[in-house]
Amino acid sequence: MGNFISIADTSTFLGVEQPATLRAPEIEAGVGCDFDSYLLVPDNTLDDRIAAAKERLRDDVVILGHHYQRDEVVKFADFRGDSLKLSFQASEAEGRYIVFCGVHFMAESADILRREHQMVVLPDLNAGCSLADMADIGQVEACWSELSSLVDPRKLVPVTYMNSTAAIKSFTGQQGGSVCTSSNAAAVMKWAFERGEKILFLPDEHLGRNTGYRMGIPLNQMIVWDPRQEFGGNLPEAIRNARLLLWKGYCSVHQRFTAQQVARVRREHPGIRVIVHPECRFEVAQAADETGSTEGIIKAISASPAGSQWAVGTEIHLVNRLRKEFKDRQVISLDPSVCVCTTMFRITPQHLLWTLENLAAGNVVNRISVDERTRHYARVALDRMLSLR
Ligand code: 13P
Ligand code: SF4
Repeated sequence: MGNFISIADTSTFLGVEQPATLRAPEIEAGVGCDFDSYLLVPDNTLDDRIAAAKERLRDDVVILGHHYQRDEVVKFADFRGDSLKLSFQASEAEGRYIVFCGVHFMAESADILRREHQMVVLPDLNAGCSLADMADIGQVEACWSELSSLVDPRKLVPVTYMNSTAAIKSFTGQQGGSVCTSSNAAAVMKWAFERGEKILFLPDEHLGRNTGYRMGIPLNQMIVWDPRQEFGGNLPEAIRNARLLLWKGYCSVHQRFTAQQVARVRREHPGIRVIVHPECRFEVAQAADETGSTEGIIKAISASPAGSQWAVGTEIHLVNRLRKEFKDRQVISLDPSVCVCTTMFRITPQHLLWTLENLAAGNVVNRISVDERTRHYARVALDRMLSLR
């Protein structure tokens, strides 16, 4: 019954006119059916069915959407934001179900911040983050013990970017550190330097370096920790002298932007302003006029006068949305070939529909649940960040 398909009318599937459709009543009767059946839902019925399922759930559901989500999904979000804004929303959300249209680490963070009666759902469990995957807890613990053999661990403060696993957030909380996002990395680092002499910054080398440099830390006081090498590939003396230890991790999307692209847009568009996400490489951030989180990029462009020109170094869905929303400004991508976050892109309207119809029928699918032990100290690290509001 769950996978029943009826030939009911003609419709389109992936743009092709075809007779076989899933009638809404069958799908609803068969809620609990696997996601694959939803791939056959005609495109032109998705919006109405998502809206209807949301309406049925009413105050029981809150949908959070990251700025990199595709338009067809993010338009259903009750709240849109960057990682920081969405964590505040998750901690303050009403409703039994928090449906997170974003990636895994964001949903995990929401689960850590949620209240007792709430549940967090990620519409596609394959929506991960390649940056978050670049540090695993075993490597981080090994790094900490190597560092502790050379420097007093009480003078060492871990700071982890939101884009990390719950286990690493928990480790950070336990060792007296904090989470940060790209909106508040400088405030969190300042907080950390008030408590210790050195910061171990996880897992994004570029955000750490860009932020540290803006705070006045010279490059020669920053070293990179390569988890595949003994002592991160550093001499003991270099570790003792460093103030900022940068985990060797990066975002594959933001890695694509180059300083040559900045030079080229300036040549081709005299007067253009360049704004990039701080996950971009140091030389790109230096060549740009500004850096900003996704929310920061939106704010900068919306505050600029009509007629201004912007080249934006971040994920293409946000850039395209900015171009459509600010028609009186010229917004282009810094990289002429498209930069998609393929994991954010995994969340489709079909996934959202499947999730909502199941929730409306009382089936909780794709729940993200962080175990209690991990959760406790991860919450400590997240609360430290949120208290710096
Ligand atoms: P923001 O916090 O700026 O939204 O960044 C999240 C992210 O994953 C950027 O790649
Ligand atoms: Fe992760 Fe990069 Fe995608 Fe952001 S853009 S979610 S850092 S892979």
